[in-house]
Amino acid sequence: MQALEDILRHAESAIQSASDLKSLDQYRVQYLGKKGQLTEYLKTLGQLPPEERPAAGQKVNAAKETIQALIEARVALLQKAAVENQLSSESIDVTLPGRGIDSGSIHPITKTFDELRKIFTQMGFVFMEGPEIEDDFHNFAALNIPPLHPARAMQDTFYFADNMLLRTHMSPVQIRAMKKMKPPLRMVAMGRVYRRDFDITHTPMFHQMECLMIDESISFADLKGLLTQFLHAFFSKDAPIRFRPSYFPFTEPSAEVDIGCLNCASKGCRICKNTGWLEVLGCGMVHPNVLKAVDIDSERYRGFAFGVGIDRLTLLKYGISDLRALFENDLRFLRQF
Ligand code: DAH
Repeated sequence: MQALEDILRHAESAIQSASDLKSLDQYRVQYLGKKGQLTEYLKTLGQLPPEERPAAGQKVNAAKETIQALIEARVALLQKAAVENQLSSESIDVTLPGRGIDSGSIHPITKTFDELRKIFTQMGFVFMEGPEIEDDFHNFAALNIPPLHPARAMQDTFYFADNMLLRTHMSPVQIRAMKKMKPPLRMVAMGRVYRRDFDITHTPMFHQMECLMIDESISFADLKGLLTQFLHAFFSKDAPIRFRPSYFPFTEPSAEVDIGCLNCASKGCRICKNTGWLEVLGCGMVHPNVLKAVDIDSERYRGFAFGVGIDRLTLLKYGISDLRALFENDLRFLRQF
């Protein structure tokens, strides 16, 4: 009987100090299992005189029940503690302020793309695309820029092998348009162009729009009218505009177009270098050699073309002073649009 008391005492203190369900299960096996201490103890009762066996048996059974009850109570306690622990760690403080959802915004260059697309679609121009990896013919030769022409040096070109290059401007798309469509035609192309250049006003990749119109009686007056309408639609309807004579190999005559400085209302400031004017694009009447290169009868047809820097338009429109801001993806900058 003393041995039974000892087993019970040990079991009691072991169970009370058990800290997890796994060790309680081990105790169940250790005391109550088929080879457990109480079961073994029960087997020794056979050695007792027959008249003492029933009372001893009852005691063992009572001990079994006690241990069983102790384990169950401890299990219940540990389970309850586990649930409480989980509840408190997973609880949500509904009084905390919400995190909010950031919505993205349209990149300023994309905004300009969208606006240009709208303006030129309304004026009946079709949009065309061309490859960013161009050949020498489309990027230079067909545009009246033969080998060794100095204009090639002005456009620091990224070359690949086999006369291929990253297009340095969008003008090759006008060549592709004229090869594909018969005049009369009106096309615009917008896309990425590449030059070996990098400072405050130049990035090695930038964006241009090229516009071309070919018909039998196109004159410089049509070009002037279209550009005025375009620039007034894009900037503001009373922006002053002026044409300056210039030179491009693919147009004759050629001009550059300025608008009155938006920053200082043409009074003169840092942005317009005190001239009151900002240069926005290059244009001219398509050179007969260009028409010849694509087999268009230059006696019958003529046309105008212009090319404009989309990034520059964006800087001017939004008063951004550093071109690189457009490409750095600084959220503090982008969130303003
Ligand atoms: N291709 C010229 C450039 O990248 C821009 C240009 C000027 C395009 C005059 C034209 C044009 O179509 O007529 O600098």
